[in-house]
Amino acid sequence: MLRKVCAGVALGLLAMSLAACNNSDTGGDSGSAADEKITLGFSQVGAESGWRTANTTSIKDSAAKAGIDLKFDDAQGKQENQITAIRNFIQQKVDVIAFSPKVETGFETVLKEAKDAGIPVILTDRAVDTPDKTLYKTFLGSDFVKEGKASGDWLVNEMKGATADVNIVELQGTTGSAPANDRKKGFADAIAANPKLKIIASQTGNFERAGGKAVMEQFLKANPKIDVLFAHNDDMGLGALEAITAAGKVPGKDIKIITIDAVKDGMQALADGKFNFIAECSPLLGPQLMELVKKVKKGESVPARIETQETTFTQEQAKAALPTRQY
Ligand code: AHR
Repeated sequence: MLRKVCAGVALGLLAMSLAACNNSDTGGDSGSAADEKITLGFSQVGAESGWRTANTTSIKDSAAKAGIDLKFDDAQGKQENQITAIRNFIQQKVDVIAFSPKVETGFETVLKEAKDAGIPVILTDRAVDTPDKTLYKTFLGSDFVKEGKASGDWLVNEMKGATADVNIVELQGTTGSAPANDRKKGFADAIAANPKLKIIASQTGNFERAGGKAVMEQFLKANPKIDVLFAHNDDMGLGALEAITAAGKVPGKDIKIITIDAVKDGMQALADGKFNFIAECSPLLGPQLMELVKKVKKGESVPARIETQETTFTQEQAKAALPTRQY
């Protein structure tokens, strides 16, 4: 009898301890792990360029590595889609919102909505033009004015012996975007050092190859003497190459070409002597962004501005860098 009672008590204790174990497995540990998982809503501009594709890959890969639950939205080049995506993220109560604003203006209302909902926002790649700096926690990205200035400085040096006017055409990025505005300014400021350097035509190619090609065709038709092309990104420069070659001119020689980004196709054109100079703009923002997301979620303070470190490339430097280029 005593044996039966002991066996019964032992079984009961075993069952209780198993139940306790089960509870801590399902309710305890995984519950708190689920609570800790950060949800990031990211609104991407679109897929207009090689740079943008590399940027999207960097963000997706880094989120997966960091264990961050990424809700990714491609706005397909439309600001209204970005605003809708941000509103959806607010409704879904994500922990942090990050986005690369297509243009500098028109985001204040939705940024206020995110702030009122208590969701921190990180600007990445491009900034918005607002006096209210409390609408976002930080801005991670390049200094586009510097990129334009580096491009202009190279040209000033290259053309220092010029005795006649140097006719420059400019392919601008998306109208109203920070990189288009800032690169234009940086370049114009730099070339002001030599009054012989003259921008004779300037138009948007929307950061796209097709746009670069179409606008360059118009430039070539309207202007018999073009000495230099300054394209706000590699893709437009690559599109323009086709137009220049089709017009019977030799890119890199008859028309010197300066671009920005340094994606692989651009670097190849530079190494091949078809481009003459590239100012780098790095799309590899993912790892830094994920670190910032974690800090902001914990309520830690972050610097208001984090500038991406970049360089420039001549033809010789492109040849050396190409074999190990990541994007
Ligand atoms: O905002 C970065 C710019 O956007 C890149 O230079 C360009 O290629 C892209 O589309």
